[in-house]
Amino acid sequence: MALLRVIDRDGTEHQVDGKVGLKVMETLRELEYGVAAICGGMCSCATCHVYVDPEWRDRLAQPLAEERELLSDLTHYEENSRLSCQIEFTLELDGLRVTIAPDE
Ligand code: FES
Repeated sequence: MALLRVIDRDGTEHQVDGKVGLKVMETLRELEYGVAAICGGMCSCATCHVYVDPEWRDRLAQPLAEERELLSDLTHYEENSRLSCQIEFTLELDGLRVTIAPDE
């Protein structure tokens, strides 16, 4: 396990155990204040949208075209937007901080 820091839609930060080797979405969807992840990680619903803290942004693998395309259509898109189902949580990401994006 490694630390995942999650800021909910009310602005409260929570520290949770991230599931190493799985997508960040897998941890977030089990939280009451987490994400819906309706498509189950198929990169088609964007209900797993998060903002990645700037200090962590460059440490993640770059989004693929499919993810970039989906993100760019969102009302709440920001430069640090990511789909949490496309981010693999590894030990190197211990301490990663993400903010749950508003509902579309
Ligand atoms: S869970 Fe649907 S796009 Fe990530």
